[in-house]
Amino acid sequence: MAWAPGKALRLATDKYVMRSMRPFQIDDYVFNWMMDRELTNYSGLPRFPSRQAVELWLKRFDNKYRFLLNITCLETDRVIGLQKLEYYPGTESAKADVVIGDREYWGRNVVLETRHKVLDFAFYRLRCHKVYGTVMARNVPAIFNYKALGFRCEGVLKEHDISMLGERTDIIMFGMLRREWDEIREEKQL
Ligand SMILES: CC(C)(COP(=O)(O)OP(=O)(O)OC[C@H]1O[C@@H](n2cnc3c(N)ncnc32)[C@H](O)[C@@H]1OP(=O)(O)O)[C@@H](O)C(=O)NCCC(=O)NCCS
Repeated sequence: MAWAPGKALRLATDKYVMRSMRPFQIDDYVFNWMMDRELTNYSGLPRFPSRQAVELWLKRFDNKYRFLLNITCLETDRVIGLQKLEYYPGTESAKADVVIGDREYWGRNVVLETRHKVLDFAFYRLRCHKVYGTVMARNVPAIFNYKALGFRCEGVLKEHDISMLGERTDIIMFGMLRREWDEIREEKQL
């Protein structure tokens, strides 16, 4: 991994490559799924008023503490989703989020395949002690993915948030410590 703080990051799996997102990659196809109400409702993606707003948002990702990686399918060369990682060096923790924007790719293990690499980067390159994520209680596929990756449920924040569709919702916290990821890697022989 030829990454240094502030430089673009690239992580690859067998079927996907993840790279620091750049403005020119927000083509019509990507912009359309970013504007999908169902996706933005659950994903934590802002609801963007325009393509310029997306480009402005991209500037927040400095590749040092904040990473926004596009997930590109190697077979089609399309940006089908995003992995976001926010690193807090003071607490040696990072918050992870994921969106698979192209629904054709739901049910194809993209999250599981790509998140392994994101977790390796967070734990072994950034030296995070902990990676965590939050999910709305109704988001069954996301909860399933956290569990499948070995994250522990650390608690439920009751009626903590309001979705973009206006529903009040519980938030579930999932966490993973570096030593737990070490064990999972060893068990699965990754
Ligand atoms: C969340 C998201 C990334 C999941 O995509 P995915 O991994 O392709 O999801 P899948 O359809 O494979 O579902 C994951 C698992 O949950 C299971 N699942 C999905 N809905 C289910 C339901 N209603 N009841 C039971 N199981 C369900 C699936 O069967 C699958 O398990 P399997 O692999 O054993 O078949 C995608 O839906 C998305 O991008 N949503 C919008 C953004 C978002 O919510 N991001 C997460 C924020 S925390």
